[in-house]
Amino acid sequence: MVLGEFTVPILVVNFKVYDASIGLRALAIGRAAERVYLDFRDSATIVVAPPATELRTLSESLEIPVFAQHADPVALGPHTGALPPEAVKESGAEGFIANHSERRLRLDEISFLVEKSRLLNLKILVCASKPIEAAAVSVLEPDAIAVEPPELIGTGLAVSRAKPEVVTNSIALIRKYNKDVVILTGAGISSAEDAEAAILLGTSGILVSSAIMKSQDPERTIRNMVEAMLKATRKLEFSRA
Ligand code: G3P
Repeated sequence: MVLGEFTVPILVVNFKVYDASIGLRALAIGRAAERVYLDFRDSATIVVAPPATELRTLSESLEIPVFAQHADPVALGPHTGALPPEAVKESGAEGFIANHSERRLRLDEISFLVEKSRLLNLKILVCASKPIEAAAVSVLEPDAIAVEPPELIGTGLAVSRAKPEVVTNSIALIRKYNKDVVILTGAGISSAEDAEAAILLGTSGILVSSAIMKSQDPERTIRNMVEAMLKATRKLEFSRA
């Protein structure tokens, strides 16, 4: 199924800044994600979000979409150390994550970034930490929203199984204001079962970090999660038929 320009289900791998997130190790995980994508081409999307320093290399080396982990809500100019959306675009990335709970932004800043992403033809995935925030952000019409309760991030306790009501309440609230935005589940997703639960709860994919970045076999972890999401998608289609 295609939602907007995304084939769903979607797996977004947020590299954060683990040891495996930089240099050749980042490229190796990007290539692992790409191998999985090539096996499931046209039935799922895999996005990788490496640190800013790796955006150009991964964008030039991989066929799968590359997103920045953040962009600063600033115009080009005197902003030392900033990463404006124009720089994300120039790196070859296709989009960026905004308002991650490890990199919070105000609503007016998110609004600036959504508008800028439209002008630059970049995708924007906005994170929200609870249902009401997700609903507020949905009014701005980003391409995708990921609901991630911060207390579960990096714990290995998946929101889709530990707090499924956060996911279902978010979907219900978001859909009051925005019928089209792609909704992802994130925080603590560690296993195929967690990924499957995210789809069965009604979201279109997952945003994952530590389970992949700290895995002994990232390719297997990515593959297991994508397979589980596809299995859950088929289950849903079957039950609706
Ligand atoms: O952006 C993904 C994220 O914050 C979840 O992290 O380590 O719980 O998968 P993790």
